[in-house]
Amino acid sequence: MKRKDQSAGAPSRSVLIVDDEEDILELIELTLLRMGLDVERATNVKSAIEKVQAGHYDLCLTDMRLPDGEGLELVQFITDNIADLPVAVITAHGNTENAVAALKAGAFDYLAKPVSLEQLRTLVKSALSLPQASASVKSPAEHRLLGESPAIQQVRDLIEKLARSEAPVHISGESGSGKELAARLIHEKSARRTQPFMPVNCGAIPENLMESEFFGYRKGAFTGADAERDGFFQAASGGTLFLDEVADLPLAMQVKLLRAIQEKKVRKVGATQEDPVDVRIISATHQKLAECVEAGKFRHDLYYRLNVIELRMPALREMHDDVPHFVTALLDKLARNAGTTRPEVTPEALEELKRYDFPGNVRELENVLERAMALCAEGKVTADDLQLTPEHVAEHSVSAGGDSKAPLQDYLDRVEKEAILEALEKTRYNRTAAAKLLGITFRSMRYRMERLGLN
Ligand SMILES: Nc1ncnc2c1ncn2[C@@H]1O[C@H](COP(=O)(O)OP(=O)(O)OP(=O)(O)O)[C@@H](O)[C@H]1O
Ligand SMILES: [Mg+2]
Repeated sequence: MKRKDQSAGAPSRSVLIVDDEEDILELIELTLLRMGLDVERATNVKSAIEKVQAGHYDLCLTDMRLPDGEGLELVQFITDNIADLPVAVITAHGNTENAVAALKAGAFDYLAKPVSLEQLRTLVKSALSLPQASASVKSPAEHRLLGESPAIQQVRDLIEKLARSEAPVHISGESGSGKELAARLIHEKSARRTQPFMPVNCGAIPENLMESEFFGYRKGAFTGADAERDGFFQAASGGTLFLDEVADLPLAMQVKLLRAIQEKKVRKVGATQEDPVDVRIISATHQKLAECVEAGKFRHDLYYRLNVIELRMPALREMHDDVPHFVTALLDKLARNAGTTRPEVTPEALEELKRYDFPGNVRELENVLERAMALCAEGKVTADDLQLTPEHVAEHSVSAGGDSKAPLQDYLDRVEKEAILEALEKTRYNRTAAAKLLGITFRSMRYRMERLGLN
């Protein structure tokens, strides 16, 4: 083992490099020694496995093609047996498939040949600042992912794993299912946690401003560009760029984004040269990205790059058993924020929530509970306070068949409308009195009128 003098006396960190090409080994070794690290070498898969089993390393860096096998085998071995050890691969220039395969197998990151020393240093620093796997990083309470169902447990496990990798992650899931929350958690548990988390809503940027918003611009690049400005990429430097609603990116921008991700370089509008950027990309959309590819709205090559690992957020209706747990935890949070105590939820109200299908997922549940808290009396949330749309409540719903255009529903709507109009006429359009006449609450009256389009 070659050891560089330790100036600060801190225990030195060690890296295993696995390659069979002498000149690459030497170049990497020299760079790492200059960074104050210990370096060991292995020249094939077999000896590398022996070494990682016996020694304690802080990082393993392996070539993909080795005399007795593939670097991928080593990645797999380490992922399966030494979860704490980050492993990165070196791939042949332009071999995207290899890079993606390695990331999928659990590699922390990859470097493309010819190895850029700057990227090498960034990768090594990042790997060495990973939190210990055992000491799972605590996130602020409002960033806790609730749920005990197997589906959400799996998400939680995957988030822990993805936090220890630089792989691009695509998060899919319905609206309000926690995609942004998951992205934040991955960032907060990663080596990048002290750097910015930069969320970008791709659907909200005017097309003509997109390039300068993403990549920044130089002074004088266009009228009004009176000073140089950074874009999202520069602002997220060292951290995570969260591309929300990524399916909304116009095709022209998709090309530029792909280039930036592939080259890890961006060019400001009006600049002649490209600058290196170090960001991790996490993307999300509530649309089915694969379908967007098929429809020709999303580039396949970008899809392939972004979707290296997919994280699917389950819908709340897939976690029905967790609903009571969600209700308690969310009411706790709401009460804490409002400085009050958590109201009780009647068994009937809870029953109704369990049967509700939550098209807006956890966000909708939060909204329902917030409204119920405002409406409820004597610290008790009743079914009436929830104001759930009956069509989305299973069983009790008149349109249990699911199709709201069913003849029965039309018929019932007509009857309901007539009854309401009649009651309104009788009470000279006093809604409170009309509700009383019909034997329903004012809130229910208001809701029904809204649903039937009566004003
Ligand atoms: N499993 C969960 N545990 C706790 N809170 C959650 C969970 N899932 C979602 N939330 C909360 O629900 C709200 C919506 O979540 P978020 O914004 O992450 O959803 P989203 O999938 O990005 O939605 P959209 O598609 O509409 O952008 C947030 O307040 C979030 O904290
Ligand atoms: Mg979102």
